[in-house]
Amino acid sequence: LITVIGLGFVGLTTALGFADKGFKVYGLDNDILKYQELEKGKVPFYEPMLEDKLKELSETGSFILTKDLEKAVNDSDTVFLCVGTPAGDDGKADLNFVKKAALEAVKNVCNNDIKTIVVKSTVPPGTTMNKLKSFLEDRGVKDNVLLANNPEFLREGCAWQDFTEPDRIVIGISDERSKPSLENYYKSFDAPVFFVSPNTAEFIKYLSNTLLSTMISYANEMSMIADKYGDIDVKKAFNILHMDARWFGEPANMASYAFPGCGFGGYCLPKDTLAINTDAKEMGLESPILSGVLKVNDDVKDFMASKVINNEEKDAKICVLGLSFKPGSDDARDTPAATIIKRLLEAGFTNVSGYDPMAVEEFKRVHNLDINYLDSFSAALADNDVFLIVTAWPDFKMMAQSDKKIYDMRYCLG
Ligand SMILES: NC(=O)c1ccc[n+]([C@@H]2O[C@H](COP(=O)([O-])OP(=O)(O)OC[C@H]3O[C@@H](n4cnc5c(N)ncnc54)[C@H](O)[C@@H]3O)[C@@H](O)[C@H]2O)c1
Repeated sequence: LITVIGLGFVGLTTALGFADKGFKVYGLDNDILKYQELEKGKVPFYEPMLEDKLKELSETGSFILTKDLEKAVNDSDTVFLCVGTPAGDDGKADLNFVKKAALEAVKNVCNNDIKTIVVKSTVPPGTTMNKLKSFLEDRGVKDNVLLANNPEFLREGCAWQDFTEPDRIVIGISDERSKPSLENYYKSFDAPVFFVSPNTAEFIKYLSNTLLSTMISYANEMSMIADKYGDIDVKKAFNILHMDARWFGEPANMASYAFPGCGFGGYCLPKDTLAINTDAKEMGLESPILSGVLKVNDDVKDFMASKVINNEEKDAKICVLGLSFKPGSDDARDTPAATIIKRLLEAGFTNVSGYDPMAVEEFKRVHNLDINYLDSFSAALADNDVFLIVTAWPDFKMMAQSDKKIYDMRYCLG
């Protein structure tokens, strides 16, 4: 059995969704007006399908609206918290509803009863296993109460469809004892289920939402810049932008751009972003997204270099794998490898070498850097102890089997 606490968009959909999949679900909400509406079979907000499902699943007894939290939790092995996490005055997520609901749920749990409390509300990384766990422990809650995180990706307006036909299910657990029941509840969903750490699960939700918000603000910033240039059909320009084939296919190639690494380089992205950003400033427009894009591109190279600088001896035999700005190209203009090597040399590293399947000569021509260049991958492997994968050439994937020290700056291994 399942208990769902908080019957808003997410909670009511979750409760009815699991009930529809054949599980018995208790639902609770402490908003008395909302409760009364639900009791009458009315959904107090607009969301297609939910009212029909509320009536149907209440009649069959699969969904039980209740005020008896103690009985609901006693009967259930899993409790989903779907309460709000509004912005606090300080801008941080207000976790008070989550903490309060969790404590109310577990206060009557017997010591030998295993319960999993699943945070479905959107909470920042560290909430479930640090903040909530210590909050409950401080109040005497024992380790028979397990905590998990299961972010929800539904969109308002199509909550039912998004919940019942999700594209992915993410479950953050830190105790294997939570796994069987969660696997059981999600096994009838036709979607891949990823068990990850609670912090990863929490982070994935923010990754998703911040990418969406960033794309919207990017588009809006560009529309304001377009207005300054004048004579630009903004709608048409964006519609044509969307025809880029990289948006299509499975997986769409555009996904490779929403992926971390050690910065973009090459002939086009750096100079073109800089040019538009400079024009925007000249035309009197703040363009914080483009400025931020350029700043992050500088920062990430320093961030990666400092990982090596802070962890390796100055005479370590270090090899930079990949000198071109991307795999499949010998273009070394504005390549992140050059900046990272410069930072290492500035920091006093004395044994730096570089290897690239295609771009060694081009890199030497464009960048005047005093390092050793290696002409084969096997020589690079034989002669060095520390490897920095700076360009994700497919050949370098075999480094996953190497026992040498590796900095995978393109997140391409494993
Ligand atoms: N709305 C969305 O599209 C969406 C999508 C994904 C994730 N989320 C996240 O899910 C969470 C819930 O969002 P929502 O839109 O469903 O919020 P909501 O405000 O519609 O619903 C929250 C419900 O929890 C109830 N509640 C609060 N404390 C309670 C308690 N102690 N006991 C019982 N009920 C309690 C409230 O009365 C309310 O009805 C938030 O963290 C939100 O960020 C929302």
